[in-house]
Amino acid sequence: MAEFPQVRLRRLRRTETLRRMVRETHVRPDDLIYPLFVTHGRGVKEEIPSMPGIFRFSVDRLAPEAEEIALLGIPAVILFGVPREKDEFGSSGYDPKGVVPRAIRAIKKAVPDLVVITDVCLCEYTTHGHCGVIANGEIDNDRTLPLLSKIALSHAEAGADMVAPSDMMDGRVRAIRQTLDESGFTHIPILSYAAKYASAFYGPFREAAESAPAFGDRRSHQMDPPNVREALREIEQDIIEGADIVMVKPALAYLDVIRKAREAFEHPLAAYNVSGEYAMVKAAGGRGWIDAERAALEILTAIKRAGADLIITYHAKEIAPRLS
Ligand code: PBG
Repeated sequence: MAEFPQVRLRRLRRTETLRRMVRETHVRPDDLIYPLFVTHGRGVKEEIPSMPGIFRFSVDRLAPEAEEIALLGIPAVILFGVPREKDEFGSSGYDPKGVVPRAIRAIKKAVPDLVVITDVCLCEYTTHGHCGVIANGEIDNDRTLPLLSKIALSHAEAGADMVAPSDMMDGRVRAIRQTLDESGFTHIPILSYAAKYASAFYGPFREAAESAPAFGDRRSHQMDPPNVREALREIEQDIIEGADIVMVKPALAYLDVIRKAREAFEHPLAAYNVSGEYAMVKAAGGRGWIDAERAALEILTAIKRAGADLIITYHAKEIAPRLS
């Protein structure tokens, strides 16, 4: 049996070229999806305080941003709307003149090849900030489904390439698939936020999207962090209902869930490197406590090593030039 001193694992680590040759995991620009927050108004490009380097854009400022993203070799963006008006049912979410449909048209016109994915949820469009319709102080799952379907359809009609329901209602993938198919959008894939946990790591996003719940929390629909077998059931149901790509979210504290999902299913697997994960790296980096760029690359590599094919990440633009 070969062992030390014949075996020396350090031999293949001696130079960067050798290390490159035996590297097992690669992060490529093609793996990345960049989130964009789209707001109302004109001429707006405002930085989100808890997410340095990430901005809210009004529709008229999106074209140059989309061009920059595409030039970096990033194939896709995911859009989040920050509408002017909110109501109890989130109806600005399916207004064809709403921020997201207008953003889709602007981006597809400027950069037709950039894949435009849209987040489908009620929380950005409701006064109460919940992901569904409220009845008797609780979320009414089944009354929420037609509204989610309407939002998804309005995005497809505006030219979205893919829709991504993030609400965690039961049966939403089936409802959205049926609506899209009946309306001539059989070719539009669904990326489902299949295993989405009730996480403290969404804090900065809720500031960015102005979508924090006005009362209560999201624990009645998002998953309980200690559970992993349940994540596989969630993913399985979404696959049965017609999801084309499934997602685990957040990523960093859930690498084991990503690994299990990779082993259990053949579908393309996405992971969301969420706002709080980004904010921690930026905050520590800003104080000189860690090398933020190296930390970001290490995190993205870990998410891929765990088994993700695609990573939604706020680091995409800064990291893409370092990947080739
Ligand atoms: C909307 C949605 C959220 C995120 C993505 N879509 C917030 C939430 O569920 O509260 C979080 C993304 C992030 O933190 O980067 N439902």
